[in-house]
Amino acid sequence: MAYARIAGTGSYLPGRVLTNAELEKMVDTTDEWIVSRTGIRERRVAADDEVTSELAEKAARQALAMAGVGPSDIDLIVVATTTPDQVFPSVGCLLQNRLGIHNGGAAFDVQAACAGFVYAIDVANRYFHTDGAQCALVVGAETFTRIIDWDDRNTCILFGDGAGAVVLQAANEPGIIATHLHADGKYHELLNVPAGVSANYAQILEGEAYTRMQGSEVFKWAVKALGDIVVETLEQSGYGKEDIDWLVPHQANIRIIRATAKKLGLGMDQVVVTVDRHGNTSAASIPLALDEAVRDGRIQRGHKIILEGFGGGFAWGSVLLAF
Ligand code: COA
Repeated sequence: MAYARIAGTGSYLPGRVLTNAELEKMVDTTDEWIVSRTGIRERRVAADDEVTSELAEKAARQALAMAGVGPSDIDLIVVATTTPDQVFPSVGCLLQNRLGIHNGGAAFDVQAACAGFVYAIDVANRYFHTDGAQCALVVGAETFTRIIDWDDRNTCILFGDGAGAVVLQAANEPGIIATHLHADGKYHELLNVPAGVSANYAQILEGEAYTRMQGSEVFKWAVKALGDIVVETLEQSGYGKEDIDWLVPHQANIRIIRATAKKLGLGMDQVVVTVDRHGNTSAASIPLALDEAVRDGRIQRGHKIILEGFGGGFAWGSVLLAF
């Protein structure tokens, strides 16, 4: 059996920093409220002419360099995004072209909102088991601020833009040890952009297709679902809490992250936190955090890591891996 192993990581953040102090001038909020309720101090905002596939390309090139592979070695591209450049082609195809890959490998997008990256890893991992994939690029990339209503204090303080990427390579041992995915569409109204191509298209044309959220309901569900999934991940894989070196969580809210870490019995020194500087970058948040901790040396080869994500749908999931 062939396994998938992370051979390299990369990330990219747009240059523009949006601070809580600036948000205080835009909506009725305070730095103190935002920090105490979310842990967020600042976030990045893509330039008007920066598109998701461009962010993805910059993160992907870093991951390729760390893995020591060239674009032509990539036989599969899976991009997790909720904010693609266009309706179609997929960001996967646009990224493939940007990287100059024309070897006929598959390229596509996965949309599972903030759980997108764990969904994308799950999908890519299966190609190693069943389809002989040798070298895959898995990316989470978002220009999420494009679907933010800057007059809505409930949401505009939370989100940011960015991209993160991993190169997965075939290996004799995992690698990706286990993945667990869940969804329940019953909750679609609690967190969504209620417009698209076949519903409320006028909102898109008028540039008013924005994220709507019932924050406290989402909060409760996220804490419950993520607590349950880390327990499920350990129980079903036969690993104990003491076997886990790092939690690399989706970065939505420091209070949700703390609750999940507590469930795992991990101290916050074993949790990679970027939410203070990145805000919630949706599908990009997990690979952005992973890359930061790999590059600063916290995450070492052989470490056991749990990735977890939760988002609109609801969709949620986890990945247990040996780095
Ligand atoms: N500044 C100041 N006050 C704000 C505010 C802001 N930016 N946003 C909301 N408020 C107000 C609300 O209007 C409410 O006022 P009211 O009591 O007078 O009605 C009050 O703060 C409390 O709101 P509530 O929603 O109960 O706060 P909370 O403790 O749940 O925190 C969130 C709000 C959004 C930070 C929190 O619910 C959250 O993080 N939810 C999950 C969001 C998330 O992770 N989404 C993405 C999932 S991937």
